Order: sequence, then structure tokens, then C-alpha cells
Amino acid sequence: MFEFFSKPTYKKVLLSGIQSTGTLHFGNYFGAMKQNIELGNDDAFDSYVFIADYHALTTVKDKEALHRSALEIAAAYIACGLDTNKVTLFRQSSVPEHAELAVILNNVVTMPYLMRAHAFKDHEAKNQEVNVGLFCYPVLMAADILMYKTDVVPVGQDQKQHIEYARDIAGFYNRAWNVEQFKLPQDLIMKDVAVVPGVDGEKMSKSKGNVISLFGDDAEVKKAVMGIVTDSAHPDDKKNPDTNTIFNIHKLFLTHAEIDALRAKFEQGGYGYKQAKDELLETIMKWRMGKKETFDKLMSNPSKIEALLEEGGKRARVRAQQTMKEVRTQVGLE
Ligand code: AMP
Ligand code: TRP
Repeated sequence: MFEFFSKPTYKKVLLSGIQSTGTLHFGNYFGAMKQNIELGNDDAFDSYVFIADYHALTTVKDKEALHRSALEIAAAYIACGLDTNKVTLFRQSSVPEHAELAVILNNVVTMPYLMRAHAFKDHEAKNQEVNVGLFCYPVLMAADILMYKTDVVPVGQDQKQHIEYARDIAGFYNRAWNVEQFKLPQDLIMKDVAVVPGVDGEKMSKSKGNVISLFGDDAEVKKAVMGIVTDSAHPDDKKNPDTNTIFNIHKLFLTHAEIDALRAKFEQGGYGYKQAKDELLETIMKWRMGKKETFDKLMSNPSKIEALLEEGGKRARVRAQQTMKEVRTQVGLE
């Protein structure tokens, strides 16, 4: 009768992951972390942010590096403002149900379908050996997403296909067992930051060595900024900001009004690349103020990070176990 009162309040579920494969950079921050933090801290969402360490194993075979990277991601998220009381922050591997769901989903996904994945095709094109973990990467990622009945996945452009795969795989599962278990997740890709350029103007990427690190030491950041590749225009020349890597990186930190002012400097001429780089460096250092100290302090106290991750893992696992109970029943394992 009083349905209105008894209806559970439903919050949209937001989830995102970052592989623990190395040092974080501004591509990660503007492409994904910033949105995860802003939306994650918003009470309108039930939010999960995790360190994709099972995924990282596809490429990382150095246990210390893997472990350190996981701590760095957690510390970076906290230093950048993620509220662990509002966001469930955890290691993927503390919730082994992700692996179990992937094993089950493997049975509704065909090999030709996985062979169409960009990551697989890129490796093939470069004649690189592909391990089975990498081949099945999209299935594990679908498991991550579907486990929490996720509505929204904030990621960079490069992950778009993976979210499409997760949607497809949700459908494959639902049809195979004739159930409505998994809902279709949506990607959330911010247009302006879909692809953050690196110092060479290509996509900023750990594997390309063109990154500006979030929390590397000052000298490392300075070296990267001063190394931004430019053309040979004279300081007095008028410059096109839109094709300029310094501008395209700098604008990510600025408000609309500040972007217009910076644009004008490039367009008017009399704004040399040395000055443009100095100003970008100043902006980055300002951005790091406070955050870098918090990051360093956390990294010098790993047991505190471990405790936070463990707590998040416990919370995530409660949800994951609910989902797996449903799934195990649906497929006949229980
Ligand atoms: P990864 O480091 O590959 O695990 O990426 C973590 C997240 O950062 C993903 O959501 C990526 O889409 C995002 N990301 C990584 N590099 C960039 C970039 N250059 N521009 C925008 N987003 C990025
Ligand atoms: N593949 C993602 C990347 O490389 C990391 C990731 C794993 C992820 N599982 C996820 C991102 C689930 C979003 C949701 O960036």
C-alpha cells in the first residue's frame, strides 16, 4: 500500500580502476582520476575505485614494482582529495570474486570477439607475444564493472571499447541464462580531456616515456616540462594555441577565463616557448602544493595505506559476494 515509503532509495553506482603498472601521470589524472574523485565524493553516487592489480599482472612481472605501484595509486587518490569514507577504495585482488566472475563470463565470450579488441590487435600488429591474461583482459574488466551493477564508468577515450565490451558481455550472459542479472554500464568520457597529450604531443602514456608525473620529484617534473617538443617559432611570432602542446597541457589546469587569457598570449605573439614552459611549470607546482606533501607522507607510512585498502576491500567484497551468490545460483553452481 505505502509503496512510496518502502521503495529503497537507489543511488547510481560509479566504478573505475587504474592498473598498478607504474607511476601515475597527468593523463591518468585528467582522463580519469579527477572525475572519479569529484563524482565519487558526491553523495549522489555509490562509488567504487580500485587498483587493477590482476590486470597489471598481464604486463608486470616485478613483484616489488607491482606492490609499490598499488600503494602509489592509493596515496595519489587520497592526496588528490578522494574521501575514503564516501568512496570504496580497494585492490581488485582483495576481492577474488572478480576472478571468479571472469571465469564464468569466459564461457559466453568467443575467441573471434576478443580478437577484435584494440589492445589485442595492437600487440598482434607489433608481433608481440600475447599471454592469455592479456587476451582475456576485456572479460576481467567486464567482471569488474558488472560485479557492482555499475551505471557509470569514468575513463579516458582509450577505454571506450572496453566499456562497450562490458555492455556486450552483460547481454551475452543475460541471454545465455535467460535472466536480467547485469545492467548495461555507460562510459563517462570528458570530451576536453579524452586524450591528454604527452611532452611529445602524442597521447601521454607510461609506455611511451612522454609523461609528466603527478608526484615525481620537482627536478623530474621540471625536466619533463622543459622537454616539451615545440616547433621553431620565434618568441615574437603569433602562434596557434590549438596545435601547441604547451597550451594543450596547460589549459587542463585552468578555468575558462584563464584559458582565454592564455590563448590570447599565444595568438598575439611576443610569448616565447621558454616563458610558456616556465608558466606551465609554475601552474603544475602550484597544483602539487599540499598534495605532494600528503602523498609523500602517506608513502612513508605504507601500513596506513594498507589499512585503508583493506577496509575498502572488505566493503567491496560484501557487494561482490551478493552478486556471486546470484550468479552461482543462476548458472547452477549452487
Ligand atoms: P592506465 O594507466 O592505462 O591504467 O589508465 C588509467 C586511466 O587513465 C584510464 O581511464 C585511461 O583512460 C586514463 N588515461 C591514461 N592515459 C591517458 C591520457 N593520455 N589521456 C586521457 N586519459 C588517459
Ligand atoms: N583497463 C583500465 C585501464 O587500463 C583499467 C581497468 C581495469 C578499469 N578494470 C576496470 C577501468 C574497470 C574502469 C573499470 O585504464
